[in-house]
Amino acid sequence: MDDLTKLIKGLYPYDERYGVLRAMPERGMSYDHILGQIREMAQEENRDWETGKCSGSLYCGDHDHYRFLDEVFAAFSYVNSLQRDMCPSMTRFESEIIAMSLDLMHGDAVSQHDPSQKACGAVTFGGTESIINPLLCYRDRGRKERGITAPKIIIPDTAHPAFNKGAHLLGLEVVTAPVDPQTTQVDVGWVADRIDAQTIAIVGSAGNYPYGTIDPIAELSELAVAHNVGLHVDGCLGGFILPWGEVLGYDVPVFDFRLPGVTSISADTHKYGYGLKGTSVALYRDASLRKYQYFVAPAWKGGAYVSNGLAGSRSGGLIAATWASMVSHGREGYLRRARKIFETAARMTEVVASHPELKLMGKPTFCLSFRSDDFDIYHLNDFMKERGWRFNGQQNPSALHMAVTGPQTRPGVMDSFAEDLADAVPYARSQGDARPQSSAIYGGGASGLPIETPEQVRDLLEMALDVLQAYPF
Ligand SMILES: Cc1ncc(COP(=O)(O)O)c(C=O)c1O
Repeated sequence: MDDLTKLIKGLYPYDERYGVLRAMPERGMSYDHILGQIREMAQEENRDWETGKCSGSLYCGDHDHYRFLDEVFAAFSYVNSLQRDMCPSMTRFESEIIAMSLDLMHGDAVSQHDPSQKACGAVTFGGTESIINPLLCYRDRGRKERGITAPKIIIPDTAHPAFNKGAHLLGLEVVTAPVDPQTTQVDVGWVADRIDAQTIAIVGSAGNYPYGTIDPIAELSELAVAHNVGLHVDGCLGGFILPWGEVLGYDVPVFDFRLPGVTSISADTHKYGYGLKGTSVALYRDASLRKYQYFVAPAWKGGAYVSNGLAGSRSGGLIAATWASMVSHGREGYLRRARKIFETAARMTEVVASHPELKLMGKPTFCLSFRSDDFDIYHLNDFMKERGWRFNGQQNPSALHMAVTGPQTRPGVMDSFAEDLADAVPYARSQGDARPQSSAIYGGGASGLPIETPEQVRDLLEMALDVLQAYPF
């Protein structure tokens, strides 16, 4: 078996246990039989992250909370939130999710700054949609109100690929701004020099995925106002945790609607909002911008159609569970979880900083990333993987990040981190020029695919997608 086949087989351990369906089974399986398999797989897969050693992904990690959300989800799982006459509850949930999110992002500052404007938002199916929808709004507003024919966005090098994906779908040019290698923040002067008559929006992250660091949003806001372009703040990762860091007295700069140039914000309820996967919010400075994300087909034979965003039918269960997550926490509950997360991240940062061989990427918040000038950081990752740690791997430069979430705040996890890292550093040092097993693949942990050039990466990842959707190959 070659390395790649071995790796892919490792990603799919169930063929021998359950067999593989290659066609629709003639007779249905019993609920008990199915539930038995479901429980078995879920319990085994939970074990990996329940150790507290996996970065990000499971943001809450609290099974009591998940059980509660599951009960809420069950009550509306089969409801189509698009058919609003049949489920007025969804209007309550969506409106209140948006109102609570705007409260967190200081939406009230908008009207104070300009009484003719009022902050608003939309519930979406995830961070990617909360980015693509504003891009659509900027494009269509630019086209209609400014006659823009070759729309362009300027994004930091650290911005999430959802911006590139959105630009790809919407036909936007992407101008990628460099970040300062020390602070990892976008070079605002560089952005300023590139804004022109075709620029529909500039972008900053709070915080970015690679390092968790926050771009100089106040300076970007000044630029946006001066040039009359949109400013989207990507708070998908940080939107529901950074505000609590500010309350707790951590050094979190203002990144929200208190800044007059911020025209839209994405913030994921399915990350640090602790909702179920599949919801997020796109927030806007004013409905005059949001209206461009609506899609209306007034004369369709199936009846006049309208949808708010990219999705059509959506499960009411997800929307209900998102609302329930938010109201079950309230300010006090979110603050309680955030306090532990910020404390754990600060202690992990100290541990990393205590090793002169490791260099932190910028100034960490709830997420810390580190690299090394002394060895290939993926050797350290290989060692930590053996001890059960799952970091997310970065490239250009090679680095590892830990987005601290609920599971890391459990007793003992921090001590294991310190002990394991102390053993991993001399191991990595001893590896010299040997090739590490692991490398940087987004969403696959820092996994071990053999890659060299961008073309090979593309081919390999496309092949991996084929395989993951049609196993066995
Ligand atoms: C900063 C940032 N933006 C956008 C996204 C995209 O979110 P999603 O995966 O929910 O589409 C992520 C996901 O990790 C993120 O960290």
